[in-house]
Amino acid sequence: MSDASTTPSAANAMWGGRFAAGPDAIMQAINASIGFDQRLYAQDIRGSRAHAAMLAAQGILTPKDAEAIGEGLLTVLSEIEAGDFPFRVELEDIHMNVEARLKDLIGEPAGRLHTARSRNDQVAVDFRLWVRDQCDAAITGIEALMQAFVAQAEAGAGWVMPGFTHLQTAQPVTWGHHMLAYVEMLARDRSRFADARARMNECPLGAAALAGTSFPIDRHMTAAALGFDRPTANSLDSVSDRDFALEFLSASAICAMHLSRFAEELVIWSSAQFRFVRLSDRWTTGSSIMPQKKNPDAAELLRAKLGRVLGAAVALFTVMKGLPLTYSKDMQEDKEQVFDAADTLMLGLAAMTGMVADMQANRDALAASAASGFSTATDLADWLVRELGLPFREAHHVTGTLVAMAEAQGCDLPDLTLADMQTVHPGIRPDVFAVLGVENSVRSRTSYGGTAPDNVRAQVARWKEHLGMTA
Ligand code: ARG
Repeated sequence: MSDASTTPSAANAMWGGRFAAGPDAIMQAINASIGFDQRLYAQDIRGSRAHAAMLAAQGILTPKDAEAIGEGLLTVLSEIEAGDFPFRVELEDIHMNVEARLKDLIGEPAGRLHTARSRNDQVAVDFRLWVRDQCDAAITGIEALMQAFVAQAEAGAGWVMPGFTHLQTAQPVTWGHHMLAYVEMLARDRSRFADARARMNECPLGAAALAGTSFPIDRHMTAAALGFDRPTANSLDSVSDRDFALEFLSASAICAMHLSRFAEELVIWSSAQFRFVRLSDRWTTGSSIMPQKKNPDAAELLRAKLGRVLGAAVALFTVMKGLPLTYSKDMQEDKEQVFDAADTLMLGLAAMTGMVADMQANRDALAASAASGFSTATDLADWLVRELGLPFREAHHVTGTLVAMAEAQGCDLPDLTLADMQTVHPGIRPDVFAVLGVENSVRSRTSYGGTAPDNVRAQVARWKEHLGMTA
């Protein structure tokens, strides 16, 4: 907090008409949002310029005043962007800081900008514009990560690896299939941001404090100027709605959860016990005491970041819960949560994209692991059903007995002799060995959405086309 917070000024120049004294220093500290909402400066100025142009078009402002306001706001914009703007905590927030500076620059007409407007619809439109941009940024970031996963899938469409359930070896799958699972998740994330963006794309400007205004404003004009599809239809809702921020946070939390899941896989896979992947030096750190260590710090942090993003969502839901219509100052608590979640998500997407692009699968370790843990037991059971006509339940039982036998002998299923197998079921023939190999296993999973390399290649082609990755 700047020094200004400890030296209360006289009554506020913007709203202080009925106030004899300035606020207590601590009141100023808790009340002011300029420390964080200065991030909305570009949206605030954009909204104000659209408002002023509309007021002039409607004859509410003279063309001369509107011109002075529009130009003055551009000067304020360039001052802020140059980094030498004197933000003043006693002016509370970005809206009043901009307007006060406008007054310094152009004098009396600055006071006419706030005609037919309130800070309630002003902050609502500023924040929507900001969150809308973040939806676009999230979509761009997600697409970059999808491309990195698709490239991995293409390189290893047919590489075998163990597929897990309960983190126990289940059935062999392909590397490409595993990579494309994340592409599916990310595609859903992307569509959630796109949906949220479409829903939030209504303009609250002109709702004024809460009831609308008696001035003959043109809300369709400001909505169009700011790239909204239409103005919001109910002024009370316009100033009290923060659903758009909650949707952004919810979509962000789900996306961050997906990042967290892959991050966890990377932590496991890059360990000396698994050695499924090598993370590049660019995304790992060393230990100050153990020279052999290469720690997956970026992955660990990405595993953790969901905590922050979901925390922001919970915080804002809790702020909004039970708030009566319409605006309440509680709602000023929306911004820091959304800013932090957005920053966290964008950083996380970028870091994950870099890690995925750089990571190297250890094909040999994947293949060796795919073949262990009786991973083709289901293929054996399916063979007994298909070739010997056994009911699946009986085939399951026979296979279980064979797994126990292999376990007792300390070998894998393909290492059992035919004679041994025939003691469990006399009908078993030598061609059973064909289905016990992992390559055959994955090649046979050709059902739609299955792990067969040909399926993966077809899906890779579809995604490459969709994501514009074809040359
Ligand atoms: N800084 C405020 C916020 O972020 C702006 C709106 C203030 N409105 C008001 N009626 N005091 O919510």
